Amino acid sequence: MTFEGKGAVITGAASGIGLGLAREAAKRGMRLVLADLDRQALEQVAQALPDAIAVPTDVTDMAAVDRLAAVAFERLESVDLLFNNAGIMATGLMWEIEPRRWDASLAVNVGGVLNGIRAFVPRMLKAGHAARIVNTASVGGFNPAPLMAPYSATKFAVVALTESLKGELDMIEAPIAVSLLAPGPVRSAIFDDPFSGEVHPATQGFVDNLRSMIGEHGMDPEPFAERVLDAIARGDYWIVPQPEALDPMLERRHKMIADRAQPAFGYL
Ligand SMILES: NC(=O)c1ccc[n+]([C@@H]2O[C@H](COP(=O)([O-])OP(=O)(O)OC[C@H]3O[C@@H](n4cnc5c(N)ncnc54)[C@H](O)[C@@H]3O)[C@@H](O)[C@H]2O)c1
Repeated sequence: MTFEGKGAVITGAASGIGLGLAREAAKRGMRLVLADLDRQALEQVAQALPDAIAVPTDVTDMAAVDRLAAVAFERLESVDLLFNNAGIMATGLMWEIEPRRWDASLAVNVGGVLNGIRAFVPRMLKAGHAARIVNTASVGGFNPAPLMAPYSATKFAVVALTESLKGELDMIEAPIAVSLLAPGPVRSAIFDDPFSGEVHPATQGFVDNLRSMIGEHGMDPEPFAERVLDAIARGDYWIVPQPEALDPMLERRHKMIADRAQPAFGYL
């Protein structure tokens, strides 16, 4: 697809990857409707871009996402691209993570994507022209990690529901394309506050390691977003901007399952 003059909606647009996508999409001439829970940061982002509005939205709230879709279809000539991008991290021993944190992970990481699909797909079908939905999972959506079970479980769910969505839209011959975005490490705010309940020393060490790994090897959101939009221009389903963070791990995992070997987490 080409981008100039086309309309995009981005959730989680006030920070990190969503912000990078908003800036890169604006650079390529897109008209933007930006959504986030953080109203103040979102408004600042929208004001700094040439053709963008802020629609403060909690993606866990279906009525709010429905309003977002209504505003987007009114404001943009068409919604050509939807990024279901908002997501949160939760770390800890899974039986110690507070229930509200578990619930929030399910509600944002899975429920938020599903609400985006429920609100936008019927309107896209009615509009009847080409569009693309990009759901953000993670390389962690292909490889479970201890000490971040809510994240692993919800990102696996996003990988699964995105493929189901692709199948269903193809089945009804809809003009809506689908992509699964699997970021590796990207510098963002996602690890700012990933704890709740007891923080076992193992969790603290794990999070410290991840933070320093992202600091050292993570991409900045804007070059990352450039790779994402290039992949969308090509029409890719699998958007994996950092293949080095996925492919070796995927190969090991497939071999482990084929060999019926015990899961092992050597890096812990
Ligand atoms: N940064 C990474 O290394 C990395 C790696 C793999 C996947 N991801 C995924 O990328 C996506 C973006 O994460 P990020 O790293 O940019 O994190 P981030 O914390 O910098 O940005 C996430 C944004 O989502 C917003 N948000 C949170 N809950 C929301 C809700 N209920 N409704 C609306 N907005 C909400 C936050 O306010 C924030 O602005 C997430 O889905 C994340 O899981 C990130």
